[in-house]
Amino acid sequence: QSGESERRKRKKAQRIAEARPLPAKISIAIDVDELPAKIRSAALGSGHFPYAEKLDPDLYQDQLECLQIELVKMLDWVKRKGERVIILFEGRDGAGKGGTIQRLTEHLNPRSVRIVALAAPTPREAGEWYFQRYIEHLPTKGEIVVLDRSWYNRAGVECVFGFCTPEQTRGFLAEAPNFEAMLARDGIRIIKLFLAVGREMQIMRLHARWLDPLNRWKLSALDFKAVDHFDDYSAAFAAMFKATDHAAAPWTIVLANDKKRLRLETIRHVLEMIPYDNKNIEEIGETDRKIVLSAATYLD
Ligand code: ADP
Ligand code: MLT
Repeated sequence: QSGESERRKRKKAQRIAEARPLPAKISIAIDVDELPAKIRSAALGSGHFPYAEKLDPDLYQDQLECLQIELVKMLDWVKRKGERVIILFEGRDGAGKGGTIQRLTEHLNPRSVRIVALAAPTPREAGEWYFQRYIEHLPTKGEIVVLDRSWYNRAGVECVFGFCTPEQTRGFLAEAPNFEAMLARDGIRIIKLFLAVGREMQIMRLHARWLDPLNRWKLSALDFKAVDHFDDYSAAFAAMFKATDHAAAPWTIVLANDKKRLRLETIRHVLEMIPYDNKNIEEIGETDRKIVLSAATYLD
């Protein structure tokens, strides 16, 4: 009797498990030929992405060109005025940081724009003040520094994978706004961007890297574990936004599931943040508030 009802309960639990969208806890392999159809169909809408279609490629090319022309004007102003700018990119593996940074910088003079993507700390660096190794990369007059990942590693990857202690993450979250405020007081403009990719879209992107011989190198040992730790990262990022969204350097979150919209909106935001001369507001166009969010709106 009780054996029979146990069996029925188990069957029911199994049916529910099968009917539900993939639970976040389940382990997903990236190194396969084909992903489950469930993941592919959920990808674009994952993480509350508001569009059911990707942006039209012609529209994208058109807008990208206009925005890149504005970027050239913007950099010219930065050089003339001796401004210093940091554009800091954060986001999960596969969020699209690399591709976005490429579009942001491809037509800018590399003498004035530096991309900084630091490797894991060396033993020497690990023994230093945490912010120390970033200091030498800060911009000088007339320069833009693009940070592909940043000191926020201590709030994300280091926290999730235990590369630092919880006390170190807590200490970092308390000090990061002070550190940034000090830079801002000295006149450095800090634009902090977080590219937010949904879970199923992250799986799709990492899987695409696995299949592409030209991109497989981008897959690090950590990338294979990123999906399993999706929820741990979400919690870590929520704590990061709460502690480090401040007036001198607020966070801007860009929903990243559609790479074309992601790239356009990111560049648009950068142009809006820099008060350069002869800004062509019409060419820049309106920010898409459905995918460009403040930290408070994103956490809501
Ligand atoms: P990426 O996604 O930038 O190509 P990885 O996925 O390998 O690179 O690593 C993600 C981030 O984690 C990098 O910024 C790297 O410096 C950092 N990282 C990797 N290993 C460690 C470690 N042992 N201690 C601290 N940071 C690490
Ligand atoms: C990403 O955000 O997509 C990656 O972490 C960086 C890359 O594009 O290689």
